[in-house]
Amino acid sequence: MAKARDTSFFCKECGYESAKWAGQCPSCRAWNTMVEAPASSAKGLRNAGRGIGGGLLREAKAYTMAEIKTGEEERIITGMEEFDRVLGNGIIKGSLVLVGGDPGIGKSTLLTQVCRELSSKGTEVLYISGEESLSQIKLRADRIGDFNGHMKLLCETDMDAIEKVLTELKPQVCIIDSIQTMFRPDVASAPGSTGQVRESTNLLMQWAKGLGIAIFVVGHVTKEGVVAGPRMLEHMVDTVLYFEGDAHGAYRILRGVKNRFGSTNEIGVFEMRSTGLTQVPNPSEYMLTGRPLDTSGSVVSCSMEGTRPILAEIQALVARSGLNNPRRSASGVEFNRINILIAVLEKRLGYHMSECDVYVNVAGGMRVSETALDLAIVLALASGYMDVVVPADVMAVGEVGLSGEVRNVNQIESRVREAVKMGFTECIVPASSMNALRKMTNVKLHGVSNVSEAIGLLRKDGK
Ligand code: TYD
Ligand code: MG
Repeated sequence: MAKARDTSFFCKECGYESAKWAGQCPSCRAWNTMVEAPASSAKGLRNAGRGIGGGLLREAKAYTMAEIKTGEEERIITGMEEFDRVLGNGIIKGSLVLVGGDPGIGKSTLLTQVCRELSSKGTEVLYISGEESLSQIKLRADRIGDFNGHMKLLCETDMDAIEKVLTELKPQVCIIDSIQTMFRPDVASAPGSTGQVRESTNLLMQWAKGLGIAIFVVGHVTKEGVVAGPRMLEHMVDTVLYFEGDAHGAYRILRGVKNRFGSTNEIGVFEMRSTGLTQVPNPSEYMLTGRPLDTSGSVVSCSMEGTRPILAEIQALVARSGLNNPRRSASGVEFNRINILIAVLEKRLGYHMSECDVYVNVAGGMRVSETALDLAIVLALASGYMDVVVPADVMAVGEVGLSGEVRNVNQIESRVREAVKMGFTECIVPASSMNALRKMTNVKLHGVSNVSEAIGLLRKDGK
């Protein structure tokens, strides 16, 4: 029999495994991403894919659906609502959760605070750091507040040593900060390399399922936006959360990207203060604070983040350009979408946008990709172009098509309700949504079927 290979080549992007090296990954077509690493260990493969409740050494047996008993999943509630919601209402016992994000965004701070909440409720937690010393962690903890209860700290990077401590302490929740610093002595490559990250994660998965410990793994994100090391890290864990936001701004969003135990659409909103992260239970209010009133080029719209409607202010500055190629800039919204909407204004309404520099911004550092904000962007552009103010108590929502038609958007009722909650008295909505909104009587609704009707409203108001 042929001798089993010791090493294989893995694609850093997609995790494709191959016996020989290639310049281009045959699977995802990325160049120069194949690296040599120890072949997948038989031990790891044997245990891969056995769900929660499956012991490590269970016999192979097939079941019918009726035979499978599903008890209530055990969830540990942290008490930080924004965090619990993203996980799908609490931490599942025995789950492996990856928390990704740029360096310095606040991953360690977030998880330290989670540990603090948990330990104050009597949950046994163990925080393992491979990045910082005990005194550095203590310094951060001092900024956050008092710690009491069952939180233990360990500074270690050797997975064998960690296994000993874990089996001895058997905490309910464990944090690994970060996966890129951990190493297995039996894997012959450097910490942070493809092989180490994969094998260490494999081991963590076994501990999580075997010992019933909920494990949170911190992973740094590279410039390209993928978790450093292989993408396959995302495939291996139960849940992937990303902590994102502008490092210079104060607000941060925790977003679920994958969740085997809940919806992936939920977000948690936090604000970074000098005393750690504070939850933002009403993001709309936060986003609209400091909004300029009576200024042209500012329109409020509503974006759905999962099941949560969040109001955001769209700002547009349209200025006469002296350049042959006028400037276009977009922050918080997709650049190409702005170009399309500018072209709609040019072609359908005869605006001379090609003579103007255009800058579009979503205030508050929020990033939105929903087409439901199109109408508000068009109105902000028109308002900026004509120098007409859109009244501050008007919210606009709707998708704009290439012929300038205003189309229906999903969850229109939640959006309008959020606007009413925040004190808006008028909403500009797609005409086709008027029927769905007929029960909303406490707000003045304007149903529009194309952009010129919507812009006509601004003119008529004359405000
Ligand atoms: P950190 O959690 O160390 O980031 P990560 O683990 O994602 O690399 O957070 C780093 C930043 O957060 C750092 O620049 C300082 C800032 N910070 C505050 O502004 N207030 C605080 O109370 C704490 C603890 C950190
Ligand atoms: Mg950190």
